[in-house]
This record gives sequence, C-alpha cells and structure tokens, in this order.
Amino acid sequence: MSLFDLTGKVALLTGASKGMGYEMALGLAQHGATVVISSRTQDDLDTAAAEINKTVGAKRAHGIAANIVHKDSLQALVDKTHEVAGPIDIVVGNAGVNPYFGPIAGISDEQYERTMNANVQSNLWLAKMVAPDMEAKGSGSMMFTASIGAFRASDTLGTYGMSKLALIGLVRNLAMEFGPKGIRFNAICPGLIKTDFARELWDKPGVEEKYSRAIPLRRLGEPEDFAGLAVFLGSDASKYMTGQALTVCGGSSMWS
Ligand SMILES: NC(=O)c1ccc[n+]([C@@H]2O[C@H](COP(=O)([O-])OP(=O)(O)OC[C@H]3O[C@@H](n4cnc5c(N)ncnc54)[C@H](OP(=O)(O)O)[C@@H]3O)[C@@H](O)[C@H]2O)c1
Repeated sequence: MSLFDLTGKVALLTGASKGMGYEMALGLAQHGATVVISSRTQDDLDTAAAEINKTVGAKRAHGIAANIVHKDSLQALVDKTHEVAGPIDIVVGNAGVNPYFGPIAGISDEQYERTMNANVQSNLWLAKMVAPDMEAKGSGSMMFTASIGAFRASDTLGTYGMSKLALIGLVRNLAMEFGPKGIRFNAICPGLIKTDFARELWDKPGVEEKYSRAIPLRRLGEPEDFAGLAVFLGSDASKYMTGQALTVCGGSSMWS
C-alpha cells in the first residue's frame, strides 16, 4: 500500500469538476491526498468537492474556480491553493479545449490560437508556477492530459491533435530540465472516453457499438479508467518514470 500512499500530499487539478479530472481527483483523495479541483464553474466545483469529501469521509477536497486560458486566473488558483492546502506536490493539468471540428484548411486564426493557448501554453504557465514548490522539496509529479489524437493525422481534429503532440513535447522537455531537481513530468493520452467533451463523437445511435468493435477491450473509455493512472503517476509507485506519454485507450492505439 505505501507505494501508492498519498497521505500529506497536495494535488492541484484543472478540468476536474467532472469527467476524467473528477475521477482522478477522487482517486488521489482516496489515497490520502488533499485535492484542489478547478474548472470555470464554482457551483459545479462545490458539488464535486462535496461528493469527494462524502466518499472519502473527510474534508480533503476544495473547489477553486479558474479559467486556464488566463494567466492571472491560473496564478490566483495556485496562490489560493497555497492558502487552503499548502505547497503543491502533484499537478494534473487536465483541462483542454477543442473549439473547431473540420479540416485544418478551414480553421480560423482565433480558433487555432485558442487551441494552442489552452492545450499547450496554459500548461507551461501552470508548470512554471508550481515548480518552485516542488524544487523546494526536491520532489513532485506533474501530469498533463494529451490524447491519442497526438499520434495520428485526422481530417477533422488535426489542430487539436497537433496541440496534444506539442503538449507531449512540452512534457518531455520539462522532464529533462526538471529531472535533476526531482520533478517528474508525464503525459496521459486517452482514447475515446465517454465524457461531455467528446459527446459529439460517441453519443449517436450505433456509434458506440461501431467504435467498440475496433477496440481490443471492446468498449469506449469511462472517466473512472483514469483514477489508477493518476494515483500511479502521483505516487512513489512511478518514482523512476518521467518524460513518458502513457496511452489509456483499451488498446486502440498500440506502441509501434
Ligand atoms: N473525452 C475524450 O474522449 C478525450 C480524449 C482525449 C483527450 N481528452 C482530453 O481530456 C481532458 C479532459 O476532458 P474530459 O473528456 O474529461 O472532459 P469533460 O468531462 O467535459 O470535463 C472538462 C472539464 O474541464 C473544465 N474546463 C473546460 N474548459 C476550461 C477552461 N478553459 N478552464 C478551466 N477549466 C475548463 C470543465 O469545466 P467548466 O466547463 O465548468 O470549466 C470540466 O471540469 C481534455 O484535456 C481533453 O482534451 C478527452
């Protein structure tokens, strides 16, 4: 058990009022961490934090609203996390956006910039804001949610996939730079997961069955499939692992 024990650790998660972020926060809290969950909507965060606290039977979750695309909002999130929970040991940069569906040739400058800013730039901001906490302790773990879309071309999700590949590139460079200081960085690459974010892709008659037939584990992903990986990456169980991109996709995207 001690390999996965997070007692006394503080975890900050973006995009965590629902979906994968929420389940990762719950998993971390169940293993002893204090979790600060964030999204843009305070009411949803209050409900989610109350659910986590009820499930773990202790006040281990706090909800603090922030919009990842605004640097001052992220800084305020980090500052408030220090106030309510203390220095940060674990970061889950999970919030991401996809404002455009269609061929890259048709994307507007504004949509392109929004995708890159939210999925790449904001995670660099967050890493830089939290790194001093971890440097002071000589240890820490940050994980960022990319996508298996990073590994393949797409005629509808091309810019989104590019942004997630850039995020993986950011992760491995941060892993190299901060490794000597004891800070680990890894990327999580989900396949198609049944959340609101991807609802347009899976919530149509017959689509889930069709996709599932092409997935070795024969189902789409569920948000709770991510709890174990967050606990693993946040804990000593993964202490010699950094700079990696880990796929969680039922085998739909295999190493090649
Ligand atoms: N679902 C999939 O199939 C899939 C596949 C590959 C990768 N991903 C990635 O997984 C991550 C999480 O997605 P999910 O599927 O779990 O989505 P989800 O269930 O829809 O949850 C998204 C979360 O992010 C928050 N959020 C959205 N925009 C935000 C912003 N600008 N600032 C702060 N928080 C924001 C949402 O709350 P508010 O709206 O209240 O802010 C919510 O808490 C994303 O990075 C996505 O790119 C998803």
